[in-house]
Amino acid sequence: MQHVSTVSALRAEINAWRQRDLQVAFVPTMGNLHEGHLSLVTEARKLADRVVTSIFVNPLQFDDKADLSVYPRTLDQDIQQLTSVECDLVFTPSAETMYPDGMDKHTIITVPGMDDKLCGRSRPGHFDGVATVVAKLFNMVRADIAVFGEKDYQQLLLIKKMVVELNIPIKIIGLPTFREQNGLAMSSRNQYLTPQQRNQAASLYRILNDIKTKLEKGESKFAILEQKAWEELQNLGFDPDYVEIRQAGNLELAKQSDKALRILLAARLGKARLIDNIACDLSSN
Ligand code: PAJ
Repeated sequence: MQHVSTVSALRAEINAWRQRDLQVAFVPTMGNLHEGHLSLVTEARKLADRVVTSIFVNPLQFDDKADLSVYPRTLDQDIQQLTSVECDLVFTPSAETMYPDGMDKHTIITVPGMDDKLCGRSRPGHFDGVATVVAKLFNMVRADIAVFGEKDYQQLLLIKKMVVELNIPIKIIGLPTFREQNGLAMSSRNQYLTPQQRNQAASLYRILNDIKTKLEKGESKFAILEQKAWEELQNLGFDPDYVEIRQAGNLELAKQSDKALRILLAARLGKARLIDNIACDLSSN
Protein backbone atom coordinates (compact mmCIF):
# COMPACT_ATOMS: atom_id res chain seq x y z
CA MET A 1 0.00 0.00 0.00
CA GLN A 2 1.24 3.45 -0.86
CA HIS A 3 1.24 6.19 1.74
CA VAL A 4 1.13 9.85 0.69
CA SER A 5 0.55 13.03 2.66
CA THR A 6 0.65 15.78 0.03
CA VAL A 7 -1.96 16.63 -2.57
CA SER A 8 0.64 16.60 -5.37
CA ALA A 9 1.79 13.04 -4.53
CA LEU A 10 -1.85 11.94 -4.27
CA ARG A 11 -2.76 13.49 -7.63
CA ALA A 12 0.32 12.01 -9.36
CA GLU A 13 -0.73 8.51 -8.38
CA ILE A 14 -4.40 8.97 -9.14
CA ASN A 15 -3.66 10.56 -12.51
CA ALA A 16 -1.53 7.54 -13.41
CA TRP A 17 -4.48 5.26 -12.58
CA ARG A 18 -6.85 7.44 -14.56
CA GLN A 19 -4.62 7.24 -17.62
CA ARG A 20 -5.06 3.48 -17.42
CA ASP A 21 -8.86 3.94 -17.14
CA LEU A 22 -8.93 2.45 -13.64
CA GLN A 23 -11.99 3.22 -11.48
CA VAL A 24 -11.22 4.69 -8.07
CA ALA A 25 -13.22 4.28 -4.86
CA PHE A 26 -12.62 6.52 -1.84
CA VAL A 27 -13.20 5.86 1.88
CA PRO A 28 -12.73 8.99 4.04
CA THR A 29 -11.99 8.29 7.73
CA MET A 30 -10.57 9.87 10.86
CA GLY A 31 -8.42 6.80 11.56
CA ASN A 32 -8.38 4.61 14.66
CA LEU A 33 -9.79 2.04 12.32
CA HIS A 34 -12.02 -0.82 13.43
CA GLU A 35 -13.87 -3.55 11.56
CA GLY A 36 -16.63 -1.11 10.59
CA HIS A 37 -14.16 1.03 8.65
CA LEU A 38 -12.47 -2.03 7.19
CA SER A 39 -15.82 -3.39 5.97
CA LEU A 40 -16.16 -0.19 3.92
CA VAL A 41 -12.72 -0.70 2.36
CA THR A 42 -13.53 -4.35 1.60
CA GLU A 43 -16.78 -3.35 -0.11
CA ALA A 44 -15.05 -0.48 -1.93
CA ARG A 45 -12.61 -3.02 -3.38
CA LYS A 46 -15.53 -4.80 -5.04
CA LEU A 47 -16.83 -1.57 -6.55
CA ALA A 48 -13.68 -0.22 -8.20
CA ASP A 49 -10.20 -1.09 -9.43
CA ARG A 50 -8.34 0.96 -6.82
CA VAL A 51 -9.22 2.02 -3.26
CA VAL A 52 -8.00 5.19 -1.55
CA THR A 53 -8.56 5.71 2.19
CA SER A 54 -7.93 9.04 3.88
CA ILE A 55 -7.08 9.46 7.54
CA PHE A 56 -7.53 12.97 8.87
CA VAL A 57 -8.82 13.93 12.29
CA ASN A 58 -10.67 17.00 11.10
CA PRO A 59 -10.52 19.76 13.73
CA LEU A 60 -13.21 21.74 11.91
CA GLN A 61 -15.92 19.21 12.78
CA PHE A 62 -15.16 18.95 16.51
CA ASP A 63 -17.59 21.20 18.32
CA ASP A 64 -16.06 19.90 21.55
CA LYS A 65 -12.33 20.69 21.62
CA ALA A 66 -11.76 18.30 24.53
CA ASP A 67 -13.10 15.49 22.32
CA LEU A 68 -10.60 16.51 19.59
CA SER A 69 -7.63 16.42 21.95
CA VAL A 70 -8.37 12.88 23.20
CA TYR A 71 -9.53 11.46 19.84
CA PRO A 72 -7.42 8.29 19.40
CA ARG A 73 -4.62 8.47 16.83
CA THR A 74 -3.21 5.07 15.88
CA LEU A 75 -1.59 5.55 12.48
CA ASP A 76 0.84 2.58 12.49
CA GLN A 77 -1.92 0.17 13.44
CA ASP A 78 -4.29 1.76 10.89
CA ILE A 79 -1.72 1.30 8.11
CA GLN A 80 -1.31 -2.37 9.01
CA GLN A 81 -5.05 -2.91 8.95
CA LEU A 82 -5.51 -1.11 5.63
CA THR A 83 -2.71 -3.22 4.14
CA SER A 84 -4.47 -6.37 5.33
CA VAL A 85 -7.68 -5.45 3.45
CA GLU A 86 -5.69 -4.52 0.31
CA CYS A 87 -6.26 -0.80 0.30
CA ASP A 88 -4.09 0.63 -2.51
CA LEU A 89 -3.29 4.05 -1.09
CA VAL A 90 -3.68 5.86 2.20
CA PHE A 91 -3.75 9.66 2.20
CA THR A 92 -2.84 11.31 5.51
CA PRO A 93 -2.84 15.08 4.99
CA SER A 94 -1.66 17.39 7.76
CA ALA A 95 -3.85 20.16 9.21
CA GLU A 96 -1.59 22.63 7.31
CA THR A 97 -2.32 20.84 4.03
CA MET A 98 -6.05 20.96 4.67
CA TYR A 99 -6.24 24.44 6.22
CA PRO A 100 -3.07 26.33 5.16
CA ASP A 101 -4.32 29.69 6.45
CA GLY A 102 -6.03 28.23 9.49
CA MET A 103 -9.66 27.27 9.90
CA ASP A 104 -11.03 30.69 10.82
CA LYS A 105 -10.85 32.22 7.34
CA HIS A 106 -11.58 29.06 5.41
CA THR A 107 -14.55 28.70 3.05
CA ILE A 108 -17.31 26.82 4.82
CA ILE A 109 -19.93 24.64 3.18
CA THR A 110 -23.33 24.54 4.87
CA VAL A 111 -25.89 21.96 3.83
CA PRO A 112 -29.26 23.41 4.82
CA GLY A 113 -31.76 21.33 6.75
CA MET A 114 -29.17 19.37 8.70
CA ASP A 115 -27.95 21.78 11.40
CA ASP A 116 -31.30 22.15 13.09
CA LYS A 117 -32.04 18.52 13.88
CA LEU A 118 -30.67 15.41 15.62
CA CYS A 119 -26.85 15.59 15.86
CA GLY A 120 -26.86 19.00 14.15
CA ARG A 121 -28.83 20.51 17.03
CA SER A 122 -26.56 19.24 19.76
CA ARG A 123 -23.27 19.70 17.87
CA PRO A 124 -23.28 23.26 16.45
CA GLY A 125 -20.98 23.63 13.44
CA HIS A 126 -20.24 19.91 13.28
CA PHE A 127 -21.91 19.26 9.93
CA ASP A 128 -20.39 22.37 8.34
CA GLY A 129 -17.02 20.92 9.32
CA VAL A 130 -17.91 17.54 7.83
CA ALA A 131 -19.29 18.99 4.58
CA THR A 132 -16.28 21.26 4.15
CA VAL A 133 -13.63 18.60 4.71
CA VAL A 134 -15.42 15.99 2.61
CA ALA A 135 -15.84 18.41 -0.31
CA LYS A 136 -12.12 19.23 -0.09
CA LEU A 137 -11.16 15.56 0.06
CA PHE A 138 -13.42 14.80 -2.92
CA ASN A 139 -11.67 17.53 -4.93
CA MET A 140 -8.26 16.24 -3.92
CA VAL A 141 -8.91 12.56 -4.62
CA ARG A 142 -11.35 12.92 -7.55
CA ALA A 143 -12.62 9.37 -7.11
CA ASP A 144 -15.49 7.85 -9.09
CA ILE A 145 -17.19 6.43 -6.00
CA ALA A 146 -17.11 7.28 -2.29
CA VAL A 147 -18.26 4.90 0.42
CA PHE A 148 -19.80 5.93 3.76
CA GLY A 149 -21.31 4.01 6.68
CA GLU A 150 -24.99 4.15 7.59
CA LYS A 151 -23.76 4.27 11.19
CA ASP A 152 -23.56 8.04 10.63
CA TYR A 153 -26.86 8.21 8.77
CA GLN A 154 -27.33 11.96 9.00
CA GLN A 155 -23.81 12.45 7.68
CA LEU A 156 -24.51 10.08 4.77
CA LEU A 157 -27.64 12.04 3.75
CA LEU A 158 -25.76 15.33 4.11
CA ILE A 159 -23.00 14.15 1.76
CA LYS A 160 -25.53 12.83 -0.76
CA LYS A 161 -27.34 16.19 -0.78
CA MET A 162 -24.08 18.13 -1.02
CA VAL A 163 -22.75 16.27 -4.08
CA VAL A 164 -26.05 16.67 -5.92
CA GLU A 165 -26.36 20.37 -5.14
CA LEU A 166 -22.68 21.21 -5.78
CA ASN A 167 -22.60 18.99 -8.90
CA ILE A 168 -19.62 17.05 -7.61
CA PRO A 169 -19.16 14.15 -10.04
CA ILE A 170 -18.97 11.26 -7.60
CA LYS A 171 -21.30 8.40 -6.70
CA ILE A 172 -22.06 8.04 -2.98
CA ILE A 173 -22.65 4.55 -1.59
CA GLY A 174 -24.00 3.92 1.92
CA LEU A 175 -23.16 0.62 3.61
CA PRO A 176 -24.70 -1.13 6.64
CA THR A 177 -23.50 -0.61 10.20
CA PHE A 178 -20.97 -3.16 11.40
CA ARG A 179 -21.78 -4.32 14.94
CA GLU A 180 -20.21 -6.13 17.87
CA GLN A 181 -21.76 -9.52 18.63
CA ASN A 182 -23.97 -7.92 21.28
CA GLY A 183 -25.35 -5.46 18.72
CA LEU A 184 -23.31 -2.42 19.75
CA ALA A 185 -22.39 -0.40 16.65
CA MET A 186 -18.62 -0.32 16.26
CA SER A 187 -17.18 3.12 16.90
CA SER A 188 -13.84 4.67 17.77
CA ARG A 189 -15.60 6.16 20.77
CA ASN A 190 -16.47 2.73 22.22
CA GLN A 191 -13.00 2.59 23.71
CA TYR A 192 -14.00 5.33 26.15
CA LEU A 193 -16.36 2.74 27.68
CA THR A 194 -15.52 0.32 30.48
CA PRO A 195 -16.20 -3.38 29.73
CA GLN A 196 -19.37 -3.11 31.81
CA GLN A 197 -20.51 -0.03 29.89
CA ARG A 198 -19.88 -1.86 26.61
CA ASN A 199 -22.42 -4.48 27.66
CA GLN A 200 -24.79 -1.77 28.80
CA ALA A 201 -24.36 0.06 25.46
CA ALA A 202 -25.82 -2.94 23.63
CA SER A 203 -29.24 -1.73 24.88
CA LEU A 204 -29.13 1.05 22.29
CA TYR A 205 -29.58 -1.39 19.42
CA ARG A 206 -32.18 -3.36 21.36
CA ILE A 207 -34.20 -0.20 22.05
CA LEU A 208 -34.08 0.76 18.37
CA ASN A 209 -35.31 -2.70 17.43
CA ASP A 210 -38.08 -2.57 20.06
CA ILE A 211 -39.38 0.65 18.50
CA LYS A 212 -39.18 -0.91 15.05
CA THR A 213 -41.14 -3.99 16.15
CA LYS A 214 -43.84 -1.82 17.68
CA LEU A 215 -44.12 0.29 14.51
CA GLU A 216 -44.35 -2.87 12.42
CA LYS A 217 -47.14 -4.10 14.67
CA GLY A 218 -49.08 -0.96 13.86
CA GLU A 219 -48.30 1.38 16.77
CA SER A 220 -48.58 4.82 15.34
CA LYS A 221 -48.07 7.23 18.24
CA PHE A 222 -44.49 8.21 17.45
CA ALA A 223 -44.19 10.68 20.34
CA ILE A 224 -45.17 8.05 22.90
CA LEU A 225 -42.73 5.49 21.51
CA GLU A 226 -39.98 8.10 21.61
CA GLN A 227 -40.85 9.15 25.15
CA LYS A 228 -40.89 5.57 26.44
CA ALA A 229 -37.51 4.84 24.86
CA TRP A 230 -36.13 8.04 26.38
CA GLU A 231 -37.27 6.97 29.84
CA GLU A 232 -35.85 3.49 29.36
CA LEU A 233 -32.49 4.98 28.38
CA GLN A 234 -32.50 7.12 31.51
CA ASN A 235 -33.42 4.13 33.69
CA LEU A 236 -30.52 2.20 32.18
CA GLY A 237 -28.06 4.93 33.14
CA PHE A 238 -27.76 6.78 29.81
CA ASP A 239 -28.04 10.53 29.38
CA PRO A 240 -30.18 10.65 26.23
CA ASP A 241 -29.73 13.39 23.63
CA TYR A 242 -32.46 12.29 21.22
CA VAL A 243 -34.58 9.29 20.24
CA GLU A 244 -36.54 10.04 17.08
CA ILE A 245 -38.59 8.41 14.37
CA ARG A 246 -37.94 10.31 11.15
CA GLN A 247 -38.54 10.11 7.41
CA ALA A 248 -35.71 8.00 5.98
CA GLY A 249 -35.09 10.11 2.88
CA ASN A 250 -34.58 13.55 4.41
CA LEU A 251 -34.82 13.13 8.21
CA GLU A 252 -37.84 15.43 8.39
CA LEU A 253 -40.40 14.68 11.13
CA ALA A 254 -42.27 11.49 10.28
CA LYS A 255 -45.96 11.63 9.43
CA GLN A 256 -48.46 8.81 9.91
CA SER A 257 -48.57 8.23 6.14
CA ASP A 258 -44.78 7.76 5.83
CA LYS A 259 -43.62 4.24 5.08
CA ALA A 260 -39.84 4.58 4.83
CA LEU A 261 -38.72 5.52 8.33
CA ARG A 262 -35.42 5.77 10.16
CA ILE A 263 -35.19 5.43 13.93
CA LEU A 264 -32.21 7.32 15.33
CA LEU A 265 -30.80 7.94 18.78
CA ALA A 266 -27.88 9.54 20.57
CA ALA A 267 -27.03 9.14 24.23
CA ARG A 268 -24.13 9.69 26.55
CA LEU A 269 -22.78 6.85 28.61
CA GLY A 270 -19.84 7.59 30.87
CA LYS A 271 -17.24 9.41 28.76
CA ALA A 272 -18.76 8.51 25.38
CA ARG A 273 -21.46 10.04 23.22
CA LEU A 274 -22.91 7.13 21.27
CA ILE A 275 -25.14 7.23 18.19
CA ASP A 276 -27.03 4.52 16.35
CA ASN A 277 -29.92 4.14 13.91
CA ILE A 278 -31.89 1.53 11.99
CA ALA A 279 -34.23 1.44 9.02
CA CYS A 280 -37.94 0.70 9.42
CA ASP A 281 -39.87 -0.01 6.24
CA LEU A 282 -43.65 -0.07 6.71
CA SER A 283 -44.55 -0.42 3.03
CA SER A 284 -46.00 -3.91 3.54
CA ASN A 285 -48.12 -2.79 6.55
P1 PAJ B 1 -15.10 8.18 10.98
O1 PAJ B 1 -15.90 8.32 12.22
O2 PAJ B 1 -13.69 7.71 11.09
O3 PAJ B 1 -15.88 7.23 10.02
C1 PAJ B 1 -15.40 6.98 8.72
C2 PAJ B 1 -16.45 6.19 7.95
O4 PAJ B 1 -16.66 4.94 8.61
C3 PAJ B 1 -17.82 6.89 7.94
O5 PAJ B 1 -18.42 6.73 6.66
C4 PAJ B 1 -18.59 6.15 9.01
O6 PAJ B 1 -20.00 6.18 8.82
C5 PAJ B 1 -18.04 4.75 8.84
N1 PAJ B 1 -18.26 3.91 10.02
C6 PAJ B 1 -17.97 4.20 11.31
N2 PAJ B 1 -18.38 3.19 12.13
C7 PAJ B 1 -18.95 2.26 11.33
C8 PAJ B 1 -19.58 0.99 11.56
N3 PAJ B 1 -19.70 0.49 12.78
N4 PAJ B 1 -20.05 0.30 10.49
C9 PAJ B 1 -19.94 0.81 9.23
N5 PAJ B 1 -19.35 2.00 8.94
C10 PAJ B 1 -18.87 2.72 9.97
O7 PAJ B 1 -17.24 9.82 9.71
C11 PAJ B 1 -16.13 10.30 9.80
O8 PAJ B 1 -15.04 9.59 10.21
C12 PAJ B 1 -15.83 11.74 9.44
O9 PAJ B 1 -16.94 12.53 9.73
C13 PAJ B 1 -15.41 11.91 7.95
C14 PAJ B 1 -16.53 11.51 6.97
C15 PAJ B 1 -14.14 11.12 7.64
C16 PAJ B 1 -15.10 13.42 7.67
O10 PAJ B 1 -14.10 13.87 8.51
